[in-house]
Amino acid sequence: MASIKTLVQSQDLKSLPSEFAHFKDTQESIRTGPEVSVPVIDFSLLSSTDPDERAKVILDLGKACEEWGFFLVVNHGIPENLISALFNVCNEFFDMPEKEKLQFENKHPLYPVMVRSGTIDGNDSNQKVKLWRDYLRFFVHPEYHCPTKPKALSDIVLEYSRRTRDLAKKLLGGISQSLGLEEDYIEKAMELDSSTQIFAANYYPPCPQPELAIGIPPHTDPGLLTFLLQNGVEGLEIQNKGKWFQLTGIPGAIFVNTADHLEILSNGKYKSVWHRAVLNNKKTRMSLVVANGPSPDTIVTPAPPLLRETPAAYGSMKYMEYVQVQRSSRLNQKPTLDQLKLH
Ligand code: OGA
Ligand code: NI
Repeated sequence: MASIKTLVQSQDLKSLPSEFAHFKDTQESIRTGPEVSVPVIDFSLLSSTDPDERAKVILDLGKACEEWGFFLVVNHGIPENLISALFNVCNEFFDMPEKEKLQFENKHPLYPVMVRSGTIDGNDSNQKVKLWRDYLRFFVHPEYHCPTKPKALSDIVLEYSRRTRDLAKKLLGGISQSLGLEEDYIEKAMELDSSTQIFAANYYPPCPQPELAIGIPPHTDPGLLTFLLQNGVEGLEIQNKGKWFQLTGIPGAIFVNTADHLEILSNGKYKSVWHRAVLNNKKTRMSLVVANGPSPDTIVTPAPPLLRETPAAYGSMKYMEYVQVQRSSRLNQKPTLDQLKLH
């Protein structure tokens, strides 16, 4: 199908084309949640030489993971000009002619590049209701599969992936300690030197009836930690204690959320948080996402040192197998994580 971007540009849409009606009528329509500020973590404190300062930020990290599963990282050290270059070049990608974009789609059995509109990753033909989103998604580590256009894309994403990998490793060091584990526990157990990183750029044009459509329906992410940047337009919502909240960003800060494999590793202490992307009728929203996971071959299990007093609550599965199961079942079936729950 044509991209949502093209659809919006080519027609003066007054109402939502019916195939995008995720909710049938105003009774069911989506109510965006009240705005909330999630905890803010000052990343620079993780390398503080003052043991009290470091202990405090580890405590804060643990609390943020346990109570929200979402936090904002400031002072992360990723240069502002790298981030703005990344937004610019992704915008250029979405601006390319449809045909040119689609030529980067491929069906690599392990590391596919996806250039899609209106769908979640898998089973496109089975999907009845379309999502109001265009996206580009590809693996950046341990193998790098970036489209070759726009020309600057590859170098910029490569640098961003290197920086975010480092950030993920250090945050996971603090999170390890917050669980009472050695600082390098997660790094070693999840074989982070060959960690799996997936990059995605999501593009949500203004929607004529945002309350009837959705950008991404509620889901959890595979992996350990997901990083998200947005272009200053809000739309990310998370579930907390059964209620939906809309998150308010901070310019330059990175949203971080706990994902499925951190829930498994922590034996359920840090839950993978449910979230969704909602729409608006005024501005294009863009989000740039990096999913940071274990190495493709790591078999993820609850960390044995956490099982001295509690039994394991999750079974085990190789990470890449999980990603593939999830890719093919995302909308219609029981969440992959539930399939691994033991009781
Ligand atoms: C995702 C995601 C939310 C957003 O890409 O997995 O949850 O706000 N994105 O774009
Ligand atoms: Ni997500």
